[in-house]
Amino acid sequence: MNLPEHVTIYEVGPRDGLQNEKSMVPVDVKEQFVRRLLAAGLPVVEATSFVHPRWVPQLADAEELMTRLGADGNDLPVLVPNERGLDRALELGLRHVAIFGSATETFAQKNLNRSLDEQFAMFEPTVTRARDAGLDVRAYVSMCFGDPWEGAVPVEQVVGVGKRLFDLGASQLSLGDTIGVGTAGQVTELIEAFVAAGMAKDDLAMHFHDTYGQALANTYSALQSGITTFDASAGGLGGCPYAKSATGNLATEDLVWMLTGLGIQHGVDLDALVATSAWMAGELGRPSPSAVVRALSQSEV
Ligand code: HMG
Ligand code: MG
Repeated sequence: MNLPEHVTIYEVGPRDGLQNEKSMVPVDVKEQFVRRLLAAGLPVVEATSFVHPRWVPQLADAEELMTRLGADGNDLPVLVPNERGLDRALELGLRHVAIFGSATETFAQKNLNRSLDEQFAMFEPTVTRARDAGLDVRAYVSMCFGDPWEGAVPVEQVVGVGKRLFDLGASQLSLGDTIGVGTAGQVTELIEAFVAAGMAKDDLAMHFHDTYGQALANTYSALQSGITTFDASAGGLGGCPYAKSATGNLATEDLVWMLTGLGIQHGVDLDALVATSAWMAGELGRPSPSAVVRALSQSEV
């Protein structure tokens, strides 16, 4: 099998997972969540977003969370859509930020209040200033496999937007299946198209939502294509408040289970992770969407 020896799991539970919760999760629960994920061995934990608090009220406590995390939070990535978001991250001494663009016109409007082209004018000075300040920048591109308003998204369009975002000065490009409609063959096709356009596989990450139950199959396909960074959300929490058809991300536990079975190193303590997600399910008052969490946890929820 042509599979990598080691994979980096980029945990997005505290950000992608909690941005879509109906109830407000108290900041001390968020702090514990982040700390427990780090303690479970996750190498990267995206902590929160410095977006407009009216747009995502669930993460309006971003400053408070990062202040509580103190030095332990300085290397955790946070989303910033624009210079205002970057200023907020810089004030706290954070070192890693992520911009998030859209491959489609409609989602750019709905998620960023900008046209497809206007989004670049917002990101360009943000990335330039972040880089000048010595920060690392990740770029996301959303709606890579389909868009709830526009339907199928042409591969050339995704590659064009993704490359343009990456070339602003990002160190990694995460390809988002925001609404979870992609299938394994399309994953191979998209990765090959990015490579043909000059992207190194090491600079790509995959970000699968599991709406149609395809996230693990798609991950396996990307592993076979040589991708070694995968975004996942503890317990399978997640969604996007501006794309109602987006449900939970690939569950980190499901990913860890498959990687372990394949003999691929990941560095995560599955028991500690399952205990964290079972605890979080209790806090949220409903069972975890992750099959592995349900199979392994003793949670009564
Ligand atoms: P806007 O209304 O166009 O903002 O929103 P604006 O630039 O016109 O500014 C209006 C006011 O907002 C100004 O204040 C700004 O200072 C303030 P005023 O002068 O009127 O008093 N403002 C801010 N305040 C705090 N923090 C900020 C900020 N920016 C402006 N950062 C904006 C534009 C981009 C801000 C808005 O559309 C927004 O916040 N969008 C974020 C939506 C979001 O977070 N979506 C979820 C994350 S993306 C995702 O989940 C997908 C992903 O997981 C990958 C995948 O699955 O595909 C990453
Ligand atoms: Mg997402």
